[in-house]
Amino acid sequence: KNIKIKVPATVANLVCGFDILGMAINNPYDEMELRLLETPDIIIKHTDHFGLPEEASKNVAGVVLLKMQEHLNLKNGFEVIIHKNIKPGSGLGSSAASAAGAAYAANILLGNILSKEEVVHFAMFGEELASGVRHADNIAPCIYGGITLVKSSDPIDIIPLNTPDLFIAAVHPQVEVKTSDARQILKKDIRLKDAITQWGNIAGLIAGIEKNDLSLIGRSLNDVIIEPVRSILIPKFHEIKTKSLELGALGGGISGSGPSIFMITERKETAEHIARMMSSVYDEINVASFVYVSDIN
Ligand code: HSE
Repeated sequence: KNIKIKVPATVANLVCGFDILGMAINNPYDEMELRLLETPDIIIKHTDHFGLPEEASKNVAGVVLLKMQEHLNLKNGFEVIIHKNIKPGSGLGSSAASAAGAAYAANILLGNILSKEEVVHFAMFGEELASGVRHADNIAPCIYGGITLVKSSDPIDIIPLNTPDLFIAAVHPQVEVKTSDARQILKKDIRLKDAITQWGNIAGLIAGIEKNDLSLIGRSLNDVIIEPVRSILIPKFHEIKTKSLELGALGGGISGSGPSIFMITERKETAEHIARMMSSVYDEINVASFVYVSDIN
């Protein structure tokens, strides 16, 4: 038995919802092929040259399958072929895609024995290997599609939200930002005043998404806690954000822990226009970049 799936990139946090909100986009995406083996081996192969480890215990898809084998007492193994288009270290959920794709496809091969929450549970072992933290804000939208709220990750409580008809422009500048470093620099304590602003934004964003209220979505895409600290790691962040808003973006910010920046727009042409601007801003400072225009998956 084998299966081939497309696994979407994801934008975690959605600016104000650190570790709780995420959105699946349809460009870029990975492709994964899984085959159920009669032997207990976990074999991982990549068709790209990103240099990701293929030893099962060191690979995000591999650890997910090892945990499934162990916890579900499986006699079978899996062969996995990963065609990776979501660049590792981009902040577009590359590790989550491998982890979520492995759990999702393995569950189908096993005859759908797991609930979606259980698929998320297993996929989170991959995120833990990649970043040291069991967060599900990339995993959940990758598995559920659209926009999701991770109300709690222990116990897993995921709320799929409405999918407004919006477009995304994203740029991945070729600078390294490790998720672990981008988490380490965050302040551990926040002021009550900032917390109030932030939960106003999160509540406003969710209400805006549910009501298809684009103006409310735009007004709520603000982050007074994480972005001021992390944006210093991303060259030209403020210039790109300001120019995107001038060109008509509803709002946007850092995708996950960066370095990618994403902007949400009402029209596809606006997203395309912003993507061209993003690319030229990085060209000017000789930083290579990749840009993506997408809608919500
Ligand atoms: N919510 C996580 C963070 C996503 O911002 O650190 C990292 O992929």
